[in-house]
Parts: sequence; C-alpha cells; structure tokens
Amino acid sequence: MQTAKKRGKNQERRTGPETRDLHRLYEMAVQSPDVNADFFDRVYRSINDKTPKTLKEDFCGTALLSAEWVRKRKDNIAIGVDLDGPTLQWAREHNIAPLGEDASRVQLVEDDVRKVTKPKVDVIAALNFSYFIFKQPDALTEYYKTVRSSLNKDGIFVMDIFGGWEAQMDLVDKTKNEGFTYEWEQKGINPITNEGIFHIHFKFHGGGGIKKAFTYDWRLWSIPEVQQCLEAAGFKTVDVYWEGIDSDTDEGNGVFRKVTKVENCPGWHTFIVAY
Ligand SMILES: C[S@@+](CC[C@H](N)C(=O)[O-])C[C@H]1O[C@@H](n2cnc3c(N)ncnc32)[C@H](O)[C@@H]1O
Repeated sequence: MQTAKKRGKNQERRTGPETRDLHRLYEMAVQSPDVNADFFDRVYRSINDKTPKTLKEDFCGTALLSAEWVRKRKDNIAIGVDLDGPTLQWAREHNIAPLGEDASRVQLVEDDVRKVTKPKVDVIAALNFSYFIFKQPDALTEYYKTVRSSLNKDGIFVMDIFGGWEAQMDLVDKTKNEGFTYEWEQKGINPITNEGIFHIHFKFHGGGGIKKAFTYDWRLWSIPEVQQCLEAAGFKTVDVYWEGIDSDTDEGNGVFRKVTKVENCPGWHTFIVAY
C-alpha cells in the first residue's frame, strides 16, 4: 500500500515537464515568437507604413521564430541561418515539417550568419543575445555590415540585449515553468574584457534535470557600444525600445516603447532596432 508520503512523492514526479527534449525546454523557457513577430510588425509599420513579408532569423537554432512568421500570414517568407547542422535538423523535424504546406515558405541555411546575404529581406532578427559571440568591435561590425547588405531598402534589423548591474554579477537566476525550473547562470565576468560564461540548466520538478544544457562564451556588449558598431556598419538610425512597468506588480508589462532616457535598474532586457 502506498503511504501518503510516497503518494505525494509520486504525484510530484508526475508534475515534471511534459518533455525532456532540451531544445523544446529551451523554447518554452526563453522564447516568445508570437510576441516577437507582433513587435516586428508594429515597428516596421511605424517606420514604413506597410507590412513586412520576409524575415531572416539569424542564429535561428530551432527556427521557432521562422515557423511562427510563416504561420502568421499566408504570404510571409522566412529564412533561418545557423551554423549547427544537428540543431537545424531538429528544427526541420519538430518545427518546420509540422507546418504542412506552409513549410515551403521556410528555408533553413546551415552557414555562418556573416556569409548569408541573399535573398534580401524586410526584417532581420538576432535574438537571445546570439551576437554576443562576436567579442571584438571589428567582428561585430563585420556581422552588422552583412546584416545591412542583406536588408531591403526599407528593411529593419532587430536584436535584443540585456544589462544592468546584475548582469555583471556571478548569479543563478531561477524561473519556474510548468514542470521544470529554468536556471540562468552567469560566471566570471571579466571587467577588463566584459567576457563571461553563461549556462542554462533545467531542473525538473519531482527530481532530475539537465545541467549545462546550453553554455555560451560571450562578451557582454553595452547599448552605446552596439550603437557605435551599427553606425560603423552604415546604419543611420538606431532606436532602443524599453519595456514599460505594470503599476500593480511593478514588473515589466511586455510593452516595448521607443525611448532615449530611462532609469537604470538591476537587470534589464531590451530591444535595439537599426535601419
Ligand atoms: C543563443 S542560441 C539562439 C537561438 C534562437 N535564435 C533564440 O532566439 O533563442 C545561438 C545559436 O547561434 C548559433 N550560432 C553561433 N554562432 C553562429 C554563427 N557565426 N553563424 C550562425 N549561427 C551561429 C548556434 O549554433 C546557436 O544555435
């Protein structure tokens, strides 16, 4: 017979994540492709007074955003670029094939983002700080030059960035999701180079997990540094979209608006748009 304690334990185990696939866990923990796609639409329309059609998702990983983009409108087209063949294969099986006939409007390219310039597109996205892989201004500027030459005349480039004084600290930030906790670990930020190591761990509710599911060796760039590299690459306008605050919870409200001055805070995550 089960004791209450054992039953409790089993119930706890049953509340683990619905999947233990590390790509799916990553998507659930850190990605909001529908919110991103709506943001691209809103910003592109505010600049060009028309709707964007073509998206290039640089550093696409599992191409979740590309899949969302073609699902969003019948004439949308997406190109995803990533160096990692096995991740792209996972993307084809899990995110692109399930699109059915819409899958024909997604192209996945296994290559360095600095090499893919065709076809030109309306929006290029580099999300989840992936460009932090480029540690020197020359390398970052070279990447931005590729981006610029891959944009249509009215095209925009959207990237995200994080900062604040907590971004400089060794820490493990934990976020609860259904069945698992997503842990973001920062380690050993060297103030001389602003380089550090960042890990993603997944801890399953009820036991187990995946330590170091993903590890990144990055340079933490600041907004003015990114702006300088974008301008060096030929972008004329660089806007920052900052998240508003919900007055009830004092937390971010998910609405990003163009700003030029904000109050600093311990940790922030914001979008930069260049065109
Ligand atoms: C942090 S993940 C980002 C995944 C996804 N874009 C997102 O928003 O969560 C970084 C991805 O960039 C890819 N990557 C790293 N350097 C690259 C390069 N030079 N060219 C293309 N892909 C690269 C890696 O293979 C990895 O899939």
